[in-house]
Amino acid sequence: MNGSGTKILIVDDEESLRSLIEIYLSNNNYEVISASNGREALEKIDRDKPEIIVSDIMMPEMDGYELLGILKGSAEYSDIPVIMLTSMDEDMDKIHGLSAGADDYMTKPFNMEELLLRIEKLLFLKRRIAGAEYRFTESQKLLDLTKEELLKAHKQLKKIMLESLEGLVTALEARDKYTRGHSERVAAYAGGIAREMNLDNIDTIIIAARLHDIGKIGVRDNILYKGEKLTKEEKAIIEAHPVKGAEIIGKISFLRDIVPAVKYHHERYDGTGFPEGLRGDEIPLAAKIIAVADTFDAITTDRPYRKGLDFDHALNELQGNAGTQFDPVVIEYFLKILNTK
Ligand SMILES: [Fe+2]
Repeated sequence: MNGSGTKILIVDDEESLRSLIEIYLSNNNYEVISASNGREALEKIDRDKPEIIVSDIMMPEMDGYELLGILKGSAEYSDIPVIMLTSMDEDMDKIHGLSAGADDYMTKPFNMEELLLRIEKLLFLKRRIAGAEYRFTESQKLLDLTKEELLKAHKQLKKIMLESLEGLVTALEARDKYTRGHSERVAAYAGGIAREMNLDNIDTIIIAARLHDIGKIGVRDNILYKGEKLTKEEKAIIEAHPVKGAEIIGKISFLRDIVPAVKYHHERYDGTGFPEGLRGDEIPLAAKIIAVADTFDAITTDRPYRKGLDFDHALNELQGNAGTQFDPVVIEYFLKILNTK
């Protein structure tokens, strides 16, 4: 019953009392270790790792206060509950003992049964604390796991969202044989230029390129795919697509970075583009890169009104418009990639 083999250390210089406690606790199934002073107690603690200590105060060599001080100051042993025993029933001793970190206090002479009850109570508390600490650590682990899973889910959600938007653009372009696959090619060219320029936002530029024409979703097919010349009103509707696109993208928090690239991909280097007529470095670099990639794809693929030009002609056209329509630096990098292929 009771102790079920729990190791307990009794520290007292009075041998008769020590033996008495030892017999009583052994009878209650404790494994009793004993020491006659603080120094000896420390050796036994190191060797036998008791779960609880009952210690006298006044002892030769090292008294109970010093022992207590060492134990409570050590990282390894500060959790071992200590019951202090003394023959002095002075309030100051109790206060001294408790403030030094004693977990309980008994005055000699004491009732053995009461000592046993106090030991059991402290052991129960100690185990309960250990259990709570264990549960706390486990819940912390669980929380970390949940955080990790949340991040994963968030990443997944972003991926799905992006895929849906790309799907929309693909569907939009697939309705017309001349624009089929356009944004995917633009994304590939823009990504290539960004890499060649050694930019640190390559992924953002690729996503922006993939979605640059998403604003065309609001434009009716009969205008969007009209072969012949557009009226002034129709032209205005088409030219609203970068702003419409920026509005759509701007509503999606994780895509806000690409809004400027989408909004300004039809600006021209010389300031004659739309929607705002920005010029030179006022135009975000990502937008200028997409503009080059966009035009390159447009002139190398078939259009309703003409056959697609070959690469050399396309390059000549791009070069011819460097400094007017396009940023010459972006053209330079684009030519560099194409010439090395
Ligand atoms: Fe566009």
